[in-house]
Order: sequence, then C-alpha cells, then structure tokens
Amino acid sequence: MRIGVLTGGGDCPGLNAVIRAVVKTAAHEYHDEVIGIRDGFSGLINNKMHPLDLTRASGLISRGGTILGSSNRDNPFKYAEYIGGNMRDMDVSDRVIENIQKNKLDCVIVIGGDGTQSIAHQFGQKGINVIGIPKTIDNDLGATEVTFGYDTAITTVMEAIDKIQTTAESHHRVMVVEVMGRDAGWIAVSAGIAGGAHIILIPEIPFNMETISQKIYERKGRGKHFTVIVVAEGAKASGGDRVIKRLVEGSFEKVRLGGIGEFVASELERITHVEARTTVLGHIQRGGSPSAFDRILATRYGSAAVVFAHEGKFDHMVALRTPDIVAVPLSEALHKMKNVEPNGSHVTTARRIGISFGDETAPE
Ligand code: F6P
Repeated sequence: MRIGVLTGGGDCPGLNAVIRAVVKTAAHEYHDEVIGIRDGFSGLINNKMHPLDLTRASGLISRGGTILGSSNRDNPFKYAEYIGGNMRDMDVSDRVIENIQKNKLDCVIVIGGDGTQSIAHQFGQKGINVIGIPKTIDNDLGATEVTFGYDTAITTVMEAIDKIQTTAESHHRVMVVEVMGRDAGWIAVSAGIAGGAHIILIPEIPFNMETISQKIYERKGRGKHFTVIVVAEGAKASGGDRVIKRLVEGSFEKVRLGGIGEFVASELERITHVEARTTVLGHIQRGGSPSAFDRILATRYGSAAVVFAHEGKFDHMVALRTPDIVAVPLSEALHKMKNVEPNGSHVTTARRIGISFGDETAPE
C-alpha cells in the first residue's frame, strides 16, 4: 500500500511517536510506502507531501511536536480562499480527492482530535480510505479510554504545581494555577491530585467564591497559611459563564478559553485579603518529550492503524479498550465527549482526602 499520514489540530506529545510507528510497521510488516502530508489538511489541499522512510522516522520516539507540521484551520469543506478580491469559504474537497489520487494514496491515516476526525469522516463518506488516530492533551474523547499526550501534560502540570507549592508556603499566599483542557476538567483534576492541590476547579462542577474563601480560612485555622488552587480554563462560577480569551476565525473550534485564573485570584484577594498570584501554564502543557506511557500508547495506535488499513477497516478510528487497541467506526466515535464525572472516582477520591471543588455548602 501507499499510506498517507497527516497530523491535524493542536499538537501534543507523542505525535512523532505515532508517525514513527506507522512508518516502521508499514516497512517491517508489509513493505508499504508511507507519504508524509504537510500541515494537516492544508497538505492535501495544496499537494504538499513527501516520502517518509525508515531513516526519516528514526529518532522520533522522544521528540515533541510533529515533524509534519499541523493546522487547526484548513477545513477542505470550508476553506478560506480569495475569490475576486474577497475571502470566501469554499468546498475544496474535490481538490483533496484529486491530490490523493494523483499521489496514488491507498489510505490516509489522520492523527487529530474531534475536529480533525470529523473532516476525516466526511472524506470517508466520500469513499476515501481514512483511518483516524485520536490525540489531545485534554483526554476528552469518549470513544477511547485515554488519548496520548494527556499523561505527559499532567506530568508537566504536576511538576509545575510542585514548584508553586514552595512559593505559596514561603510567602503565605494563595497561588492559582490555570491549566488547559477546554470544557473538560481531566488535566486539572488529575494533575491537581498528583501535585497536592488544596482546591481544584473544573468545568463539570460550578464553584462558589464564598466556599473557596471558607476553605482558605479553614486551612489558616489549622496553621496552613497558604493554599494552592488548580483551575481548569473552562471552569465557571455557579450562575456565571466560561471566560473566553479570544475567537480564532477559521479554526475547527473558534473559542479559546483563558482568564479564569486571574478572576479567581483577584476575587479571593478582595474577599479574604490574602495575597494571591496566578500562573497560566499555557502551551508548556503541550510541549516536550512524551512520557513512557504516551510513547507506548502512541506506538500501539500508530502500529494498529497500519494493521487496520490492511484489514480494510476504513472510516474507523483506533481506540484503547484495555487491554486491546480496537477499531471504532468514526460515525460512532465523533462528538462523543468525555467529561469528568462529578460523582466519579477522581472527584470522590479527591474529596475524601480533603480537596475542595469549591461547591460544598459554605458554613453559616
Ligand atoms: O485541545 C488542546 C488545547 O491545548 C486546549 O487544551 C486549549 O484550550 C487549546 O488547545 C488551545 O488552542 P490554541 O493552541 O489554538 O491556542
């Protein structure tokens, strides 16, 4: 086979490990050729591709980012082009199909999140042989138990919280750490537990400033003059709304969240008069070398995708269903988001060890 591979959407640790596994499995098991497609769907629209052989795939297991480049714009079904001096959204999917045929690609492996996989499915419906591989640090895709990139991201956040704990304690401060995750609180709850946070605020559990303040007073009463709060970018006060930082036109998902950490810190200073500071971890969470767990999962996903291509399991996405890697129809996998369960094991465990989610009834 001639297999095309592309990476779409935001990058995350482990993308290169997937690419490596695709190339190695294709070469060792099947004597296939692999073609790297540049910058997500942009490479298919503009015919930017190059062969990926074993030499190019070597040394990629530990490298962050993606050697293919990525894009979270460039939707071929809604592609912004200048027509007669005006920017218009055009359906250029036929151009993509032409390029796939011109390059004699028997199958395209699409590594990406929900937005990227939706586009892959649209091509699947048009008769193109696509196989999806789920990625995101947010871990919010319901069809798979875990996405690669998440383990590395929570380790990065945990290490940051460890460092912030020391300043919080030395200066008797409230330290607020804002983390990514979009509308899911997985990064916040997992890294918060691992990093020993005292309060964790997640989108799934609206919070109350009075309750958070009470927790700070209660800690002070026990001689703990500092508090570390991890807040997910999508968290909101009860009766309030998410804090939106910007809208990115042309992106698969326009809304970019950010700013809730600063809101929480300034409100707490106003209510409690305890000095507060905010750290926004931002894209540090998406960078760096993948953890062992992510390297292994990425390798299993990439390798399985090539096997599924040979079995003709197109318009499917690989998924982890412990202990197996399975193929799930893309039609079933899409838009099935996975959120933190407010009564699930992560939250109940955290509550049992005294972590507040800012929603407990404040004492009279
Ligand atoms: O989905 C991954 C993610 O990192 C989210 O956690 C975050 O909200 C978003 O992407 C940031 O996107 P961008 O890199 O476009 O700012």
